[in-house]
This record gives sequence, C-alpha cells and structure tokens, in this order.
Amino acid sequence: MDLIEKIHNKTEYRKHKKVVLAYSGGLDTSILLTLLQDLGLQVATVTVDLGQKEYREQGMAEARQKALKLGAIDATVIDGKEEFAQDYVTPAVHANCLYQGTYPCSTALGRPLIAKYLVQEAEKTGAGAVVHGSTGKGNDYLRFEVSVKALAPQLEVLAPVRDWQLNREEELEYAVEKGIPVPIKKTGYSVDANLWGRSVCGGSIEIEDQEVPTDALDWVKPLDATPDAAQVLTLTFDAGTLAGAELDGTKMLHSGAALIEALNRVVGNHGIGIIDQIEDRVIGLKSREYYECPAALAVIAAHADLEKTCLPKELNQLKMTMDQKFAEYAYGALWHSPVMDATRAFMDATQANVNGWVKLKLFKGGMHVIARKAPDGLYQRVHATYGRNSTFDQRQSAGFGALYALSTTTARHPHWMTQKNQEATVHATA
Ligand code: ARG
Repeated sequence: MDLIEKIHNKTEYRKHKKVVLAYSGGLDTSILLTLLQDLGLQVATVTVDLGQKEYREQGMAEARQKALKLGAIDATVIDGKEEFAQDYVTPAVHANCLYQGTYPCSTALGRPLIAKYLVQEAEKTGAGAVVHGSTGKGNDYLRFEVSVKALAPQLEVLAPVRDWQLNREEELEYAVEKGIPVPIKKTGYSVDANLWGRSVCGGSIEIEDQEVPTDALDWVKPLDATPDAAQVLTLTFDAGTLAGAELDGTKMLHSGAALIEALNRVVGNHGIGIIDQIEDRVIGLKSREYYECPAALAVIAAHADLEKTCLPKELNQLKMTMDQKFAEYAYGALWHSPVMDATRAFMDATQANVNGWVKLKLFKGGMHVIARKAPDGLYQRVHATYGRNSTFDQRQSAGFGALYALSTTTARHPHWMTQKNQEATVHATA
C-alpha cells in the first residue's frame, strides 16, 4: 500500500488548517512536509541551526529554499547557536551535566530550544499545532511534547512518524514519487547533532556486543589517525562559564558557540569524545547509544575539576547530587518545568567563585587534567603541605580524632566503655 493511501483516512490531523513543522531539510522531515499537504494542511517550516555541521557546509538558505519548493507557506530559518550556547549549554556546564555519569545530554538540551522556536512560529502564523519527526520510541517526542505544553498549552503536538507508524521502505518510495531528493550514501544511522554533540543511533549500533564501525564517526578521529604528540588545552572559566581557551599556550581566538565548535575539532582530533553505552531511556527501555561529544567532555572535565578547588566540601558533596538531578531532568524532558527552574537556581547560587583555569593533556584518545589554578580558590598549600612551615597546627587534630572515632568504636564494641569504667572503679576502690 502506498503512503498516500495509508494516511488518507488519518483524518484526525485535519482539524488543524495550519501547522508548524520542525524541518531539518533531510529526507524524513521533507516527506512529512509533503505528506501533511497531501492531507490538506498548510505547513510552515522552522529550521534551527544549533551548530549542525551540515548547515555549516550547505547553509541554512538551502533548507529554506527546499522547504519553499516543497510547498511550505512560510519557511523560517533561525540561527540558534549563540542562544543554545548561552542559555542551554552554559547552565549544563555549571551542572556538569552528564546523564548516567556519561552523556552530556546534547540532543536532550537542543530539543527544548527548538520547541521554543516552534511555539514562536505557531503564534506568529496562527497555527494550531506543531509537528516534529521523532518516533514514539526514543525520548525526543517527550521533549517536544513537554516543552511545547509548558510554553503554550493550547498548541497540539503532532508526531506523524509515531502516529502513522511510517517505515523506511514506504518513505523512500514516496520520496521518489514526489521528487524529494534521496541521499545516495545511506549508512542506516539516525543522527542528531548540535554544538554540544553528535548522537548516532540505529543500524549496526543496535548490536551491543560488536564494536561500532568507524563509519559512524564524524567528529572524532579514529585512534590510528590521531597525532603522535600530545597537546595541552587550557580552559578558562569566569563564574563557572567558559571564557577562553589556549592550545599549547596559544590563545584560541573564538568565543561563544564558535569556541565550542573549535574545541570539538581540537579535542576530537586526538580521538577523544566517544561515548558508547547502554542507556536507560525515559520509559525505562534500554538502548545502545553512540555519541561524539569532544568539547562537552573536555569542558565538563575541566569545570568539575575547578569546582573542587573553588567550592567548600559540603557544597561539593551536595552539588554532586544536584548535578545528577539536573542531568535527569534535562534528559527527562523537563527543561521547561518548575523543578528545573529550582535546580538551575541552585546551580546559579554556586558559580560566583568558580574562576580560574584548568589544563588538560590530550593524547591518543585519553584526556587528563594535569594542572589548575583558581585565584580565589580554597586550596591553601601552606595549610595542606606535609613539608616544614605548615600554617595548620596538626596537634589540634588529636581531640577531633578521638571524638570522630567514638561513633564507630561504640557501634563495634558497645560494652567496651562500660567494662573500662568498671575496671577503673574497681582499681580506685581497691
Ligand atoms: N538517546 C539520546 C537522547 O535521548 C540521543 C537521541 C538521538 N536522536 C536521534 N535522532 N539520533 O538524548
């Protein structure tokens, strides 16, 4: 059965005369663009550049032209890179955001911003619904759904790939029929990319007991092609926010989104940035995921190190828990939810003193912090030194040691104290 026939009786979308489609310019969303028109809807598209390499190479204008050619009533292109870097990536750095300890949430952070632009466009064009191309299996449909509802509850969120259970074969047939260009080179991967990382899933990545082939890589060099000499990357932070970088002592002349893009190249060049994991999706489904996030891993490693220098012990401890919650909420589609506002307020209250630099050594797939300096950090060598002239009088620790051991001693030997006291009394009266 061909696709037009299949969706013909899917009338529930028809109540919306006009919809806004999140349009990447790729095959899937191009198919959606024409399919929705086949149903009789007017479609306005929104294409958002959050730092996808494809847009750097082809330009956003091309996506716009393509949308208009395929019949969009309006095709808006938005350069969201700086907003993404400032309002999404920066808070994630403050929170050392790593879902399950490993994934910097790159895709997860991009969706709520795309949702925001979709809502803006819907309000501008008077559309009743927004449409995205995510399936009902991953997490992305939840991020669109929750974000749009948080911002504009009157808008409906349509997910045709999920609702109509579209499959690859019928999509390709339809594309040919409609004259939608089909990419020649097909790896079978589903890719989502932005400044903060590149997520690759599907295809051979689903086979969890096999190494992912190098054709899945785009940002990270395979180890046999990386430089034979190490490089030292110095990252500088101002109130927890990345403020500059030096490579082997030479200042990198970028800032904002461009600096993150440059870091992806520098760090990825050393074979660093791959994350290969079995991941718990929001609904609890486990999936094998593959990511390239060179800049994110480097910036978070440096930021987390600097925080240890700058924050007092109890705050560092609490922050580890809060960092984890932040990542769970970011991953779990709750970016625009009140719990995230509160978590972000906590993060904001912790960053004022996180100033200084951290040096990372990059070599053959490995990255290590090798030095750091925080001008108003809390590390005081004169206190901590084991050498002569320490300013900290360690004799103070004797009483503390005895008291600190009390709880453990009592628990392990409940009667020991009483026995000792009795013996002492016997001695005294003898
Ligand atoms: N599992 C990741 C997440 O939920 C990545 C999803 C990537 N999406 C894609 N279409 N490749 O954030």
